Amino acid sequence: MREALLHMLAENEGEFVSGQQISERLNCSRTAIWKHISELRKSGYSIEAVQKRGYRLLTSPDLVTAEEVSLYTGEGTFGKKVTYKTSVNSTQEIAHSLAREGAVEGSIVIADEQTGGRGRLGRAWQSPSGTGIWMSLILRPEIPLQKAPQLTLLIAVAASRAIEKVTGLEAAIKWPNDLLIRGKKVAGILTELQAEADSIHSVIVGIGMNVNQEKKHFTEEISEIATSLAIEGGKTYKRAEIAGEVLQEIENLYRSYLEKGFAVIKLLWEARAYSLGKRITARSVTGSITGYAKGITDEGVLLLEDDNGEIHSIYSADIEFPSH
Ligand code: BTN
Repeated sequence: MREALLHMLAENEGEFVSGQQISERLNCSRTAIWKHISELRKSGYSIEAVQKRGYRLLTSPDLVTAEEVSLYTGEGTFGKKVTYKTSVNSTQEIAHSLAREGAVEGSIVIADEQTGGRGRLGRAWQSPSGTGIWMSLILRPEIPLQKAPQLTLLIAVAASRAIEKVTGLEAAIKWPNDLLIRGKKVAGILTELQAEADSIHSVIVGIGMNVNQEKKHFTEEISEIATSLAIEGGKTYKRAEIAGEVLQEIENLYRSYLEKGFAVIKLLWEARAYSLGKRITARSVTGSITGYAKGITDEGVLLLEDDNGEIHSIYSADIEFPSH
């Protein structure tokens, strides 16, 4: 009811919606409407109420609650099932248990704050309250296990497109899936699988995006390498809108991928790639290799040519740009 009411007000943002219209459409009493309006106001929505005219939504808070995100997920099915938490250790953990319990594809877990956010390669991911998008999405693709890295690249393309659509900023992709604006990281993606020897039960895609942090929110060390959309765009953004757009972009690309394969995604990825053609060092647990990033394979594996002309396939590594 509260969500439907918010939808009605948001659809007509800045316009009055009469109590009668609301009570007819939502089939509820005037008292019930008033109760929900008061609750919305308590959550930070500014709603004007004028006798004989009705209610008018003036401003809404920057929340990533289920009701806010659902305003921006469009016609698709991704993000229709939302588990929202104000504070959580890691949204990945919750998404893993929901996936094990059979959650449908497209379900998401999103939090205002993570106290134990996880990054790739066992790193921590800073996820302070009120600033970013900390979200995990459950996918259930019927694809062979070795194709899972393709999904990681797909997600990076989708997130970059969503950023561009909402903010106009261009985010380049550093293999496999860091998003960079002017060379600094604005978002990261963590893809984890629940799988058996040859079949995937689910893919848990964790997306972390710095949205409204100001420079002072980052330590000096971090601000050398990280940025936020607000820092780059010079204004703040609605996190729910970006999250909704990310989900819509993911769903569109994912449907196209399942139907037509990886070729289109590969082209889109390459067009946004930051590392291709550059001299890089790929560092992994087994050691590090320096050379030129030649391209990606149809499986999404990075090809690196070392100084002896030998081509290496990189499946998982950290990419650095050597200064010489
Ligand atoms: C990286 O670049 O290392 C990946 C960062 C992924 C962070 C996201 S935030 C939502 C989800 N929950 C986590 O604990 N991690 C991912």
